[in-house]
Amino acid sequence: MTDRKPFVAGNWKMNKTFAEARELVAAMLKPLSGIAGVEKVLCPPFTSIPVVASMLVGADVGLGAQNMHWEEKGAFTGELSPSMVKEFCAYIIIGHSERRAYFGETDEQVNKKLHAAMKIGLVPIVCVGETLDEYESGRTGEVVSRQIKLGFAGVDFASAQRIVIAYEPVWAIGTGKASSGENANEAVKQAIRRTLSATFNEAIAQSIRVLYGGSVTGSNAPEFFSQPEIDGALVGGASLKPDEFVAIVKAAA
Ligand code: PGA
Repeated sequence: MTDRKPFVAGNWKMNKTFAEARELVAAMLKPLSGIAGVEKVLCPPFTSIPVVASMLVGADVGLGAQNMHWEEKGAFTGELSPSMVKEFCAYIIIGHSERRAYFGETDEQVNKKLHAAMKIGLVPIVCVGETLDEYESGRTGEVVSRQIKLGFAGVDFASAQRIVIAYEPVWAIGTGKASSGENANEAVKQAIRRTLSATFNEAIAQSIRVLYGGSVTGSNAPEFFSQPEIDGALVGGASLKPDEFVAIVKAAA
């Protein structure tokens, strides 16, 4: 084990209106702020980012966006630029499997977004993970290592250490069927850290934080956080429930 700081991010996905977002943050801000030793991040939808930002002023809880374009400005209807995100946020989720599956996001686009995030000084949370089909045919290692190689292409050694990776097996996301701690740990070790070591070096591979994501709850979180290769969680559904999310962050502390 290295001294990687535990990290828990809540990915709200397309949930919560402005008023609901305010209510959700109000319900968990105080207990969250009281938990030391964990980097905590909330990732609401764009429309709620400004209000959540105002509520997080002075709190030990960070703010992230769920997506952005890699270009700085221009004719890209419906998109937001890195500097628009940076006005409010310190973190950015890149390459979530839902963006890959429903919006055709490719490893090449993930790579462009990653470079744009590094350039503007956002901390990227890069998501990787295999589908059920790939899992069942024993291709987890191959798929995840390709996602890392192509996604991280051209990233320099110094920048690489700032990146957070979320290992999210697609079959475990939103299904209530989480991976097992052991299984996830093995994938992180064999597919992610090994590829990082080959791409950069062993010291960098050991310094990058790798989260598990996919049906994490307050009750299964300890199983993941006790694994040597797993440094925290990217939480979807349970991040919309204040008690659950607080319990997960506590388990990471
Ligand atoms: P889930 O989502 O916790 O609802 O499975 C995780 C994610 O998609 O980041």
